[in-house]
Amino acid sequence: MTRHFLKDDDITAAEQGDLLRLAADMKDDRHGFDSLNQSGRLRSVAVVFEKPSTRTRLSFQIGIAELGGNPVVIDSQSSQLGRGESIADTARVLSRYVDAIVIRTFGDDRIAELAEHATVPVVNALTDGWHPCQLLADLHTIAEHRRAGLHMLRGTSIAYVGDAAFNMGNSTVIACSMAGMHVRVGAPAGYQPAADVLARAAEINAETGGSVIVTDDPVKAVSGADVVSTDAWLSMGMEDREQRITDLAPYQLNAALLGQAAEDAIVLHCLPAHRGEEITDAVMDGPQSKVFDQAENRLHAQKALLSWMIGGERE
Ligand code: CP
Repeated sequence: MTRHFLKDDDITAAEQGDLLRLAADMKDDRHGFDSLNQSGRLRSVAVVFEKPSTRTRLSFQIGIAELGGNPVVIDSQSSQLGRGESIADTARVLSRYVDAIVIRTFGDDRIAELAEHATVPVVNALTDGWHPCQLLADLHTIAEHRRAGLHMLRGTSIAYVGDAAFNMGNSTVIACSMAGMHVRVGAPAGYQPAADVLARAAEINAETGGSVIVTDDPVKAVSGADVVSTDAWLSMGMEDREQRITDLAPYQLNAALLGQAAEDAIVLHCLPAHRGEEITDAVMDGPQSKVFDQAENRLHAQKALLSWMIGGERE
């Protein structure tokens, strides 16, 4: 059966650990895995964008090339997707050409339809609901800065502050629960993860020993945390800018809020940042910020993912 990576728990917790170990090895020896496509299974990968991207586009394009594959990057404006060709027909056609389809799109129903009609693995490069590749990079970054390796993810606390009702909030809750971490969401009513996401996290945490709490008090969320993460308050396409900024202003990741975290806490932001909104310059550019390591780790984490999914590293 073709396996897809549409959301964080499309892999098991054990597989997540294997992937993170492979990503760390790939970072340590960046060009030592260049011949992974000798298995003959990593030839061409379609990387499809229906929304803008810098990090995801570059990290997939470069990562696929570094693995010896051929990245074929298309966007909706310059393809028939932008002129109404169905996602199902696009899946059927791309499956005849490539070994995997990576896609950034809007609703999760859209990527689910793509996966239903594709005969090759489909990877979520950001939907409204999930950003699982980002979380592989985030966990990689946490592990390397905890200095004690992957096993230290278990029991590590992460505060996610701001808008937690969409992709980054959802993926943080699920992926960190899979890693056995303690997640504290600090978000106002209307910006908190949905009940079904929290229910799924509870199931996972019963196995991994992790936990999730949700509070509208940003100080309570951040207090003593090992990692503090946030994301933009306005995702692509949102229109209620003034209301969102008003609602989320108390959750800005600034020096005072970061001061509530553990002394050696690290700061994550998936980027792009809106400096002065969800995060201040002082925090972004401060010594606790690992946001550019985090951006780099997209490359290593996704190389590991593709190698594992289609390059023979899973056998
Ligand atoms: N973090 C992230 O997905 O960045 P891009 O939107 O630039 O791809």
